[in-house]
Amino acid sequence: MNTSPERCIQERADAISRRWIMIAVVYFVAAVSLGVAMGANHDFRLKTVHVHANLLGWVSMALTGLIYRLYPSAAASRLAAWHFALYQFALPLMLGGLAAMMLGQRGAEPVVGLASAGMLAAVVCFALSVWLGGRRSVVHFGQAQTAQ
Ligand code: HEM
Repeated sequence: MNTSPERCIQERADAISRRWIMIAVVYFVAAVSLGVAMGANHDFRLKTVHVHANLLGWVSMALTGLIYRLYPSAAASRLAAWHFALYQFALPLMLGGLAAMMLGQRGAEPVVGLASAGMLAAVVCFALSVWLGGRRSVVHFGQAQTAQ
C-alpha cells in the first residue's frame, strides 16, 4: 500500500473536495426550489436569497471543490480548513439574515453584517491557500498530483 506524504495529501484533498461538492448540490436543490416557489407564487421578495444561495452556495462551492481537486497542497492546508469552517458558518447565517431582512425584519441587519465579514474572511483564506499551496501542486489535465 502506498502511504507516501504525497499520497496522504492527495487523499485528504480528495475528501475535502468531495465535501465541498456534496454541500454545493444541496444548495443547488434548495436555491432552484426557492426560484420555482417564487415564480409559482409571483412573490419575489426572496430573490436576493435565491441569487446568493445559487452563486455562493452552488456555483462557488462547486468551483471550490474542483479547484481544490486541482491543487491538493492547497486543499490539505490549514488555511483550507479555516476556509471551510468560516464559509459553512457564514453562508447559512447570511442567507437566513437576508431572508429575514427581505421579509421586513430590519433587526436582522447586524446578522447579515457579521455573516458577510465571516464570508470575506473565508474567501481570503481560500485565496491565500490557492496562492501558497497552488505553487506546490503540479496540475495535470484529468489528474491532480502533488509536487515531489
Ligand atoms: C429552475 C431554476 C430556477 C428558477 C425557477 C429561477 C427563478 C428565478 C426567479 C423567479 C427570479 C426572479 C426574477 C424577477 O425578479 O423578475 C430569479 C432571479 C435570479 N436568478 Fe434564478 N432561478 C433558477 C435558477 C437559477 C440559477 C441556477 C442561477 C445562478 C446560478 C440563478 C440566478 C438568478 C439571478 C442572478 C437572479 C436575479 C436576476 C435579476 O434580478 O436581474 N437562478 N430566478
